Amino acid sequence: MSLGQQLIAWRRELHQHPELSGEEVETTARLRQWLGDAGIKILPYDLHTGVVAEVGEGDKRIALRADIDALPIEERSGVAFSSQRPGVMHACGHDIHTSVILGAALELKAREASLNGRVRILFQPAEENFGGAKSLVRAGALRDVSAIFGMHNEPGLPVGSFATRGGPFYANVDRFVFRITGKGAHAARPHEGNDAIVLASQLVTALQSVASRNVNTLDSVVLSVTRITGGNTWNVLPESVELEGTLRTHRTDVQEKVKARVSEIAAGFASAFAAQIDIIWYAGPTALVNDANWADFATSVARESGFETQHAELHMGGEDFAVYLQHIPGAFVSIGSASQYGLHHPAFNPDEALIEPAARYFAQLAEKALNQL
Ligand code: NI
Repeated sequence: MSLGQQLIAWRRELHQHPELSGEEVETTARLRQWLGDAGIKILPYDLHTGVVAEVGEGDKRIALRADIDALPIEERSGVAFSSQRPGVMHACGHDIHTSVILGAALELKAREASLNGRVRILFQPAEENFGGAKSLVRAGALRDVSAIFGMHNEPGLPVGSFATRGGPFYANVDRFVFRITGKGAHAARPHEGNDAIVLASQLVTALQSVASRNVNTLDSVVLSVTRITGGNTWNVLPESVELEGTLRTHRTDVQEKVKARVSEIAAGFASAFAAQIDIIWYAGPTALVNDANWADFATSVARESGFETQHAELHMGGEDFAVYLQHIPGAFVSIGSASQYGLHHPAFNPDEALIEPAARYFAQLAEKALNQL
């Protein structure tokens, strides 16, 4: 079997047996088996799920990272190797990322003797709930590593295309919940209560002015209210309403400014309506900030490897790879996967033709990066 065929076979096996974040037990067992069969050393980190392997010898170290978890989505792609697990699907293509980095590991193993150092290979669990990168860092997986690289497939780009950028790339992800407490009343006697629904409606509208009127148009901000919950029947005004949503930014100063403005607006509404508004913020991943030099380096190696390279647009999604880049420099890159349906869609179906060239690219990138240290 050729490398390409092997990687597609592995990808399909992973695709048929997807596991949710933090539950990647079978995936971990498969990876250990495949890496072990290839004679690749697995490092003895204490991990519930996920695998860290290493190829090469010496003091210099470069890391490659793939994510391995799937999503709670019922697959409707129609492919013959569809998920065999009801309600769980590799709808973000982490099975593709895993097979790409497995291929890179095999390639690097084949030229181990000529490597100018070690390549540490991280198969990270729990990317989707943004906990996996921290668990690997805590376990020591970045120790003595000088730079790290990783990828996400990009359904909107054709196979053979490559994009990245220096500096901010993926967004800061914040989640917020507003708890609005008024006073319940009979729907026919609203003057005896304090209507939390009317207040919540106006608050949602007022929040729209933050991105449009408080932040420089040239800075990226998304502030979306995604859930309104309150009341349970037609003739009672509820005492409380909850709003939930997300804030996406690329710069810490913009993020802080928006959060402060949101608090001011909420305090103003609470005062004007004599109600109570509590805001709870949950911090998601911070912005993914690529090292400019490593991003240029990754692009030039991609061009040499035959990819059509381009400058990536800012991405409003979050990506757990950001955590590694807070510890060491590196670059995260997009590789075209040409799926008609996008990431997290039940019919998402990336083109497997990207796997082998991307695997060879990452082997090349790691080898050249070691020479660069
Ligand atoms: Ni993903």
